[in-house]
Amino acid sequence: MTADDGEGPTATTGDHVRIYEVGPRDGLQNEARPIPLATKLRYLELLADAGLREIEATSFVAPSAIPQLADADELMAALPRRESVRYPVLVPNVRGLARAEAAGVDAIAVFTAATDAFTTRNIRMTIAESLEAFAPVLARAGELGWWRRAYVSTAFGCPYSGAVAPETAVDVAVRLLALGVEEICFGDTIGVGVPPQVRAIVSQAVDAGIPSERIAFHFHDTRGTALANVAAGMSAGVRCFDASTGGTGGCPYAPGAAGNLATEDLVYLLDAIGLDHGVSLDGVLRAARFIADALGKPLSTKVGQAGGWDRVSGQATGRA
Ligand code: COA
Ligand code: ZN
Repeated sequence: MTADDGEGPTATTGDHVRIYEVGPRDGLQNEARPIPLATKLRYLELLADAGLREIEATSFVAPSAIPQLADADELMAALPRRESVRYPVLVPNVRGLARAEAAGVDAIAVFTAATDAFTTRNIRMTIAESLEAFAPVLARAGELGWWRRAYVSTAFGCPYSGAVAPETAVDVAVRLLALGVEEICFGDTIGVGVPPQVRAIVSQAVDAGIPSERIAFHFHDTRGTALANVAAGMSAGVRCFDASTGGTGGCPYAPGAAGNLATEDLVYLLDAIGLDHGVSLDGVLRAARFIADALGKPLSTKVGQAGGWDRVSGQATGRA
């Protein structure tokens, strides 16, 4: 598979791709085994050591909703910041924003969805109510000079209401952009998306005034389509993709939504097609093994199991 599938702008060698790591947040929010704070901090350190420059660290949501991330305040207060790394956190409301501010955060992500059926279960708000809740959050974050992202979950399909048309997801994105965010991330929460949908979302978003530089994608590999979707996104001009080291994750409010696209699988593909992203596959594999051990699970991602492969020497790399 190459990044050029014959449609849209072609990725050329030297193009920079942003890998937005979601393992510590999306990865851990759905895991049953509680992970100690020190283990989370070490995981975050290994991810930064691997060259990841955007690492979604945790969520300032109701602890009753996501007990796995109830230590967000302590985590962000204890996390040694690196100049070159952005550590966004999820914030659902002004309460979360106040907590984030107290913990020294400077980048946030708000999250709604393309369907009311999902938002009412996930955040107990309709889409319209969520936009009302985000308005003061994003305004304040803007005053503070923070980086702001907004997720549109269920952009490719909803576990409760079914099919989602690209225009439905794009309509929510347009309203989020108007509230003041640097980036919109379309999420395939249950891993049902396919390349034609990716292309349709990008072209409709661009037509609606959202430049491709401000679009990101969050694919789940639930049905094995995540990398094909990345290639479609690349061809359509998008250069930011979410991934989770170790392929952990999912949303507790989206039944059956296993497995984010694994960072190691994404890095392997981007390396193989010669795209610049600044992340070390060996470093990601170290972090992937570390978190799999901490979760007491075998590392089940493709590249996690097979390791890498050096295209010049023809040798396997990154084996444990
Ligand atoms: N941080 C900490 N506590 C919070 C909070 C926040 N950001 N927002 C609300 N709470 C607390 C309230 O104080 C209240 O606590 P109490 O019961 O002890 O009084 C409780 O949570 C319920 O508050 P309420 O304002 O009624 O919220 P809600 O029950 O309508 O839930 C959300 C709304 C958004 C706070 C909640 O659904 C949530 O946090 N969802 C996150 C889901 C998620 O992260 N999903 C995965 C990501 S895709
Ligand atoms: Zn996810």
